[in-house]
Amino acid sequence: MTARILDGNALAQTLRADFKKRAEALATRGNRPGLAVILVGEDAASQVYVRNKVNACVQAGFHSEKLTYAPDVEARVVLAKIAELNADPRIHGILVQLPLPKHFDVDAVLKAISPEKDVDGFHAENVGALMQGHPRFIPCTPYGIMQFLADAGIDLKGKEAVVLGRSNIVGKPMAMLLMQASATVTVCHSQTRDLAFHTRRADVLVAALGKARFVTADMVKPGAVVIDVGINRLPDGKLCGDVDFGPVSAIASAITPVPGGVGPMTITMLLANTLEAAEREAR
Ligand code: GUN
Repeated sequence: MTARILDGNALAQTLRADFKKRAEALATRGNRPGLAVILVGEDAASQVYVRNKVNACVQAGFHSEKLTYAPDVEARVVLAKIAELNADPRIHGILVQLPLPKHFDVDAVLKAISPEKDVDGFHAENVGALMQGHPRFIPCTPYGIMQFLADAGIDLKGKEAVVLGRSNIVGKPMAMLLMQASATVTVCHSQTRDLAFHTRRADVLVAALGKARFVTADMVKPGAVVIDVGINRLPDGKLCGDVDFGPVSAIASAITPVPGGVGPMTITMLLANTLEAAEREAR
């Protein structure tokens, strides 16, 4: 079997064209959607992600603000800016790029964001709402993956879904969404014994562990749907995912590439959440 390639750029383009129209409709009523992105420090990957997020906003006709701080900035400075943005009517979404430098209390920063503007869905209140099955904002990467699966017509009911990675950003919310879609979910992590035993049982395999080409063809069930969340840089400078794409795509039924898979969909769902926040406020 040769896998169907799930094209994140194509799906993102379709969705973003719709978002642009909706943003313009809001703008004509004086409510142009607005996103503020806060970046602390000089992490190279974070700088690229933030630039891509801001550019996507501009292209979709959103207002966007990028606020950058030195790595040694005091937390109170960032918290004061968040309070200001919480009260700013031009801003509907606030995102603090993670990771933050070590001297920050991440939970305190995320909790400082108004839950109504928490377009990442990381505020404890929004995490709780997602867990209870009535999310206010769905975290962008798992949200994008669910869009992929829906667009590809993949029915999750009763399927074995295996998630590699237990992060708050991807693994945990991903597992919750798959469970709510009636899949049987297994979450594997760094302490899992015999990882391949689990991955070989997966009808749907989500790799979000951050290790280049970790998932090899012998770990994948023939016909499985494979979603690759990883973005890893190889010594030659090229990007690759957590999945060994060539050999795995020869046996999977569908697979997301890196680049051009989950990445563009993550940013697209950030736009979706920001637009949703603005539309809620305009109602
Ligand atoms: N760092 C890696 N992924 C994300 C994300 O989705 N949101 C934020 N805020 N930081 C991240």
